[in-house]
Amino acid sequence: MALQAPQLTPDNIRDVVAAMTLEEKAAVLVGGGSKAFNGIGNTDKGVPGAAGTTHAVPRLGIPSIVLADGPAGLRINPNREGAEQTFYCTGFPIGTMLASTWNTELVEEVGRAMGNEVLEYGVDVILGPGVNIHRNPLCGRNFEYYSEDPLLAGEMAAAMISGIQSNGVGTSMKHFAVNSQELNRLHNDARLSERALREIYLRNFEIAVRKAQPWTIMTSYNYINGVHASESPDLLTGLLRDEWGFQGVVMTDWGGGYDTAAQIHAGNEMIQPGSDRRYQDIIDAVNEGRLALADLDRSVARVLELVVKSPKFKGYAYSDAPDLTAHAAVCRKAADEGVVLMKNRSGALPASHAEKIALFGVTSYQFIAGGTGSGNVHRPYVVDLRQGLADAGFLVDMGVDAFYASYMEDEAFRCNLINGKSPWYIDRERPLEAVPSEVIAASARTADKAFITFGRVFGEGKDRDLHYSYVLQERELELLTAVSKAFHKAGKKVVVILNIGGVVDMAPWQDLADAILICWQPGEEGGNTVAAVLDGSVNPSGRLPMTISKAYEYEPSAPNFPRISADKPFNYSFYRRLAGNKKAYDIKDIDYTDYEEGIYVGYRYFQTFAPRHVAYPFGYGLSYTSFKWGKMKVREAGDGWDVTVQVTNAGDVPGKDVVELFVHAPGKDMDKPERELKAFAKTPLLAPGEACTVTLHVTRDSLASWDEEAGTWAVEPGRYRFLACSDAATPVLRRRVRL
Ligand code: BGC
Repeated sequence: MALQAPQLTPDNIRDVVAAMTLEEKAAVLVGGGSKAFNGIGNTDKGVPGAAGTTHAVPRLGIPSIVLADGPAGLRINPNREGAEQTFYCTGFPIGTMLASTWNTELVEEVGRAMGNEVLEYGVDVILGPGVNIHRNPLCGRNFEYYSEDPLLAGEMAAAMISGIQSNGVGTSMKHFAVNSQELNRLHNDARLSERALREIYLRNFEIAVRKAQPWTIMTSYNYINGVHASESPDLLTGLLRDEWGFQGVVMTDWGGGYDTAAQIHAGNEMIQPGSDRRYQDIIDAVNEGRLALADLDRSVARVLELVVKSPKFKGYAYSDAPDLTAHAAVCRKAADEGVVLMKNRSGALPASHAEKIALFGVTSYQFIAGGTGSGNVHRPYVVDLRQGLADAGFLVDMGVDAFYASYMEDEAFRCNLINGKSPWYIDRERPLEAVPSEVIAASARTADKAFITFGRVFGEGKDRDLHYSYVLQERELELLTAVSKAFHKAGKKVVVILNIGGVVDMAPWQDLADAILICWQPGEEGGNTVAAVLDGSVNPSGRLPMTISKAYEYEPSAPNFPRISADKPFNYSFYRRLAGNKKAYDIKDIDYTDYEEGIYVGYRYFQTFAPRHVAYPFGYGLSYTSFKWGKMKVREAGDGWDVTVQVTNAGDVPGKDVVELFVHAPGKDMDKPERELKAFAKTPLLAPGEACTVTLHVTRDSLASWDEEAGTWAVEPGRYRFLACSDAATPVLRRRVRL
């Protein structure tokens, strides 16, 4: 008599695995992209617009779970055939902007709201956060990522993961690891020292794994030192599980990697989005003895452990109606703290509502909420700056307004013609900048201040063009020069707003502006956030999560990063693989990229070797008030030290400050950067005259460097300097610590 097949519960995973056929096991490991398994239950299409699913095995009570992007909000289709209802998701600020808040509690709150949408739209795992290091400003996906610094990135990721997962849904921290360029992303080999790997490119992931245990991790498309990230047992088992204690599931990026059996053996349990070939690969590999049953069963058990945690398994009755209004308020709150005030000459800001504003720049009228590609979110609306200013009570100059109203209509027509034809991974055509001389001249007489917004949008699959995207374009520079000349001649001020997904070159033009603020891609509420910073109802408290150098050439990775330009435009033949599926190793920065700068990424390089080449240091940002710091104390506590600093609001308006604790190591026995971030803290809102004491914890372990020769972490003995800094270049208080 046939035994009854066990039905999956959290307690019988072993029995269920034992009852599975080889075909069922293969199906569970391969995403639902394949049509081959309809017979065993791939009937669940999941949520329209989601990125993938797993396979169901109804015979054993295994449901199909749904995975959707990430990371600036949930990406699903807003419309469904035959449905009148819409399924919009909140477009939150991009990762870079969340990192600019330096506020982990706030990021966790964003995670809670985002995770609630995951739950209420019937999704089980969101494919984010993205935590890769900003190695080079031209990387097309930097907007999805947090920072050039692994501590800041890791802490932000941990907060985001905790927030999202508090809803009982999963995350997929990505892309593990060293995914720093988009060009040839499927085949590029990132070649770097073990030390750079450990201290920079893995530390971010390590912090988040240890603190927040993401349910899943997504491996990256690239190779690392000759081994594909998804096929590396050292990375996925030795490091991730054995050293860091990761408990979840590892999945491939969509279509990532080549050798299915090697992936499963390495500890990459889930192959996404799945295909018939991948399914057959597993069956063949087991039958031919290339994949051990033990590897197969271990992987299947891990996927089932994920399944039993999912809302789908628990039968959660989702509403398809998350509270988008409440979440818009969370988006707004986070964006308000992520704006970075870069410059404010003679009190150009805040502006008063009594002043009439001449609003320039096409981006002012078409704000950019987020980036493109899988990192896009179908948000219900985007508040542009024109709208934001009007709602805040600003008066705008009607001459300028009328000009843009008709100009934007013409440009929309032109762009629609082009955009209708381009696939999702090609940059969308944006309106060109106009330089309306007469309108500028007239407004310099009638308006009191000029605001100009410049925008940049980009996304996966491509890196940024140095001249088109990083440097200010000719027309932008012409507009800024013309407005600045006219307004300054009339004794009036000019404010530049940068609505960008990653940094732009600033040194050549910054003198033309009296004030500059970076509002990044602030999500759907963008115009409201910027208007509130401009009128002072929000006092900016964002700090740069990366360095802005004086010119691209000064970037430490510039000699080893693909350069797209007018004479060498982007071309998909850059995606290179040789005949017979062989990896090519001929073209530098495309087939392989040498991380010659090693650990000297971002401020670690600039502060050590080239402080003069910095336009704005890592951690930089101004406020409308001023702060005084004092009473710095360091005392031993637990596994390291507690550092306390008293922060007083010494100005006239309420504000928040950020204390950044850098440590300067002796650097005698070891090669050490001038200083490294070891802790940070954001104050609560302090009223004028109000003080608070922030506590920052530095662990002894965090002072260690990777000793290549010994193959282990080592802490250099000697005298350390603990520096309480307002940015990477500006120590305010210091204490010595002997070790
Ligand atoms: C991206 C991932 C994304 C996946 C699913 C890939 O192209 O690299 O970040 O999660 O697609 O959409």
